[in-house]
Amino acid sequence: MQKHTVHVRLGARSHPIVIGKSLLPKALTSSSTFSGLKTRVFVIADSHLRPIAQRIIRSFGTKCAGSFFLSGGEATKDMSTLPKLYAAACQARLDRKSFIVAIGGGVIGDVTGFFAATYLRGIRIVHVPTTLVAQVDSAIGGKTGVNLPKGKNLVGAFHQPALVMVDSTTLKTLPDRQFRSGLAEVIKYGIIDDSILFRRLESRTKQILNRDPKELSWIIQRCCEIKARVVSQDEFETKGLRAILNFGHTIGHGIENAAQYKLLHGEAIALGMVGATYLSQKLGDLTSIAAQRINNLIGSFGLPVRLKIKLPTSKIVAAMRLDKKAGDGQIRFVLADDIGNVRTGIPVSEVFISEALATLC
Ligand code: GLY
Repeated sequence: MQKHTVHVRLGARSHPIVIGKSLLPKALTSSSTFSGLKTRVFVIADSHLRPIAQRIIRSFGTKCAGSFFLSGGEATKDMSTLPKLYAAACQARLDRKSFIVAIGGGVIGDVTGFFAATYLRGIRIVHVPTTLVAQVDSAIGGKTGVNLPKGKNLVGAFHQPALVMVDSTTLKTLPDRQFRSGLAEVIKYGIIDDSILFRRLESRTKQILNRDPKELSWIIQRCCEIKARVVSQDEFETKGLRAILNFGHTIGHGIENAAQYKLLHGEAIALGMVGATYLSQKLGDLTSIAAQRINNLIGSFGLPVRLKIKLPTSKIVAAMRLDKKAGDGQIRFVLADDIGNVRTGIPVSEVFISEALATLC
């Protein structure tokens, strides 16, 4: 059982991200995180992951105080899920010393994270992300939340996990569309911070799409390292650094909401990155060659570069205005100056936004 640890350094909230193959259930349930004699855990998992969740529950033995299964679809990321979780937690008599173990993709991690952040004013959580998007992004950094009808992630809290355990074996059975969706966030890391990662994605596209375990391990580790460094330096997104992670997300979240979540997160982010790439060329220093490389890579991973459903621009812009990133009524963007180098907080007029959206149609 080969594993690698990336550290998120946040003083008292520091914690490890353990990455490896075939880690579950043993490396999780025997982790020193749960070593206290009176430790109790409560497992919340995607209902599609019952077999692995049951193995984890069995491996926790008497430490497991109960479990709850949720659908992993975006509809679960809603206020209406929370009362069910609070009721289950009360019934299991969880206290402040208990741990929540969240097993699933981005939706499960986000809603369970918010539940853990608020139940008893905060109990500890361990994330076991099982999709690529969760392994490289959403399970890392402590952002939790649910959607409101008006927009994505409009209610939430920062709540750092005690441990993140990434077992790349869980990707073996991930549906193709979900896997490709995760690759959008991987491409994002190349654009915002790491031209070497970007080049590797270009040169090993086939191996990556074939889910070559060695390639996947390298990619997941690299993305976790980037995110851990960014979060360690700007946990609450107040210093302008963490905002780099939002490349492609301004338009992406707008599309996701306007399309009522018919597109997967990564698919919407892929379109958002195409839009942001257009704006980076138009308003910044991004060369047409670099822009072409970005669009080609997105396309070669089978991610959308054009909107295939009909969505009025006005609806997307309205959703973008409600996004958390739109401070003082201005819609702001992360724009790339080069592959591996971005600037944040760039206000963009509605005329240019409409132009960018037009390139997606
Ligand atoms: N997914 C963006 C962030 O964690 O800041």
